[in-house]
Amino acid sequence: MARISQETIDRIRNSADIVDVVSQYVNLKKRGRNFFGLCPFHDERTPSFSVAPEKEIYHCFGCGAGGSVFNFIMEHENLSFVEAVQQLGLHYGIEVSLSGESGSKKFFTQLYELHEIAASAYTKNLFSDPGKTALDYLLERGLTEETLKEYRVGFAPDAWEFLTEKVKGQGYSRESVDKSGLFGKGKQGVVDRFRSRIMFPIMNRTGKVIAFGGRVFDSDDPAKYMNSPETPLYRKSEVFYGYHKTAPAVRSAGSAVMVEGYMDFLQLVQVGIENVLAVSGTAFTTKHAVQIGKITQKVYLAYDGDEAGQKASLRAGYAMLQNAIAALIVQVPEGLDPDDWVRKEGGDAIRTGIEKAIPLLNFHLEKTGAMELPAVERSNLVKEILEEIAGVNDGIIRDDLLQTLANKLKINEQEMIKQFQNVINRKRKPLQIEKSKPAEPTLFTTVSQKAQIEIISAMLTSFRDVKKIVEKNINLLTEPLLNKTAQLLLEHRSGTTAEVLEEFNNKKERETVAGILMIENKVDDPITVVQECIHTLKTHPIREKIQQTRLKIRELEAAGIDSSDLIMEVSRLHQQLRSI
Ligand code: UTP
Ligand code: MN
Repeated sequence: MARISQETIDRIRNSADIVDVVSQYVNLKKRGRNFFGLCPFHDERTPSFSVAPEKEIYHCFGCGAGGSVFNFIMEHENLSFVEAVQQLGLHYGIEVSLSGESGSKKFFTQLYELHEIAASAYTKNLFSDPGKTALDYLLERGLTEETLKEYRVGFAPDAWEFLTEKVKGQGYSRESVDKSGLFGKGKQGVVDRFRSRIMFPIMNRTGKVIAFGGRVFDSDDPAKYMNSPETPLYRKSEVFYGYHKTAPAVRSAGSAVMVEGYMDFLQLVQVGIENVLAVSGTAFTTKHAVQIGKITQKVYLAYDGDEAGQKASLRAGYAMLQNAIAALIVQVPEGLDPDDWVRKEGGDAIRTGIEKAIPLLNFHLEKTGAMELPAVERSNLVKEILEEIAGVNDGIIRDDLLQTLANKLKINEQEMIKQFQNVINRKRKPLQIEKSKPAEPTLFTTVSQKAQIEIISAMLTSFRDVKKIVEKNINLLTEPLLNKTAQLLLEHRSGTTAEVLEEFNNKKERETVAGILMIENKVDDPITVVQECIHTLKTHPIREKIQQTRLKIRELEAAGIDSSDLIMEVSRLHQQLRSI
């Protein structure tokens, strides 16, 4: 099994602020010391999911999910622990080396290096003899050399081993080569995946090349674009082409212009529209919306001006609204894409187009000619739109959409709300069956269990004060799970409570412990509280024994049997109690 050193795990945990990480998936609001949001692990409408930044853990009171930042990524992305650590390491620029798995030590470094070798080779090739026709073609299409160089556009020649040759014998492992997505398997072994294509490198946030989009050039390959597959470096649904360059402009402009193609992106940047982003190699997903939501709350969608483009922009637009991002549609002339548009009419045309962009819902209604539709079709359209609106969590946005819908279609608002309720009710049921796990926490209800939990929460709030006394009495914590938790807290206090959770491999146990660690107890006098709990833990079993013995005595007496031994026992137990 591959292992990652504890030191690396700690470093990544320290960099990967749990609020920051969870925020990529959940809209969190601060309340008191913790953050709250809608649980991503089950379907809900009121937030029962919370994140405690100081403890570096999360917990859902609704479904019981809980753990450290690594557990969150594991569950959300369906990854193993090692993969989750790697993913976060990647994100925060911390190198994760594995031991115990031969050849995979430098796996990620090698993947980056392979991409860098490829990007350099393709660019060099574009700007030398074999790339001349490709370069001419790009210049002809209006891109300048400067733009091409800035975005490291390149050219993969019509050869099977252009890149393979460059990589051979350089010490790259089989695994790195296989998983880079840059190569394929031919009859004679490894061959180049990209051939006779104009290459658009896709970079991560820090500008490292992690994938490529390749446009066919001078070849009869029917696939116009070929993209890198999903690899350990490249998660399509989270990546935007050009993000590393344009994210600052998006932030400062307060909006992004979203396009579909590499050429669209480059053309727009080149005419000075700097807040552009393009999805790369996949359709727009909810994850994209979440990513975008971190840098702006307003997106102009400038997709192709054809039926497919309009459909895609509706899908992307609703995904954004559902993540509290305003979506506006730029009406690109029929039959053109933003790239064509800029070349045909110049940068100002598209600038005006952006100014005149219309809100998604208005666009949807206009495009479908909703106002003129016969009643039945209109009703179907309304239902379809209400379905989308039902996915919008933000109440203000939702009400705004409902109002627009009612006004535009001249529907009585009461009627609209009634219909909306129907949609929501219908939507809710199957979702809940499918998604929500019933909350089955291990309940700690006995006096002794409650005392043990109270000790743990005192440890969480006033560790130094109570450490010694808990250490001395650790054996009194008889509930195995609680005992283990307390022991780990004693051992791990230099680190964090999140570390404690990572010691629980059993999901149910981990979640239970997460729930306990989440408890906030304002303990005024922690030492006294712990002392009282310990007193309870010591005395409670004796009291129970007394109780049981008394019952037995009563039984014996009823049966006319001598019970003096037991009576002695009770008085002995009482004595024991007093001595505590
Ligand atoms: P288009 O087919 O509209 O191409 O795909 P384009 O960008 O206008 O390219 P040119 O102008 O013909 O050179 C739009 C975008 O969709 C993605 C690519 O990102 C492309 O830029 N795409 C398209 C793919 O990922 N795969 C495909 O097979 C086609
Ligand atoms: Mn085009």
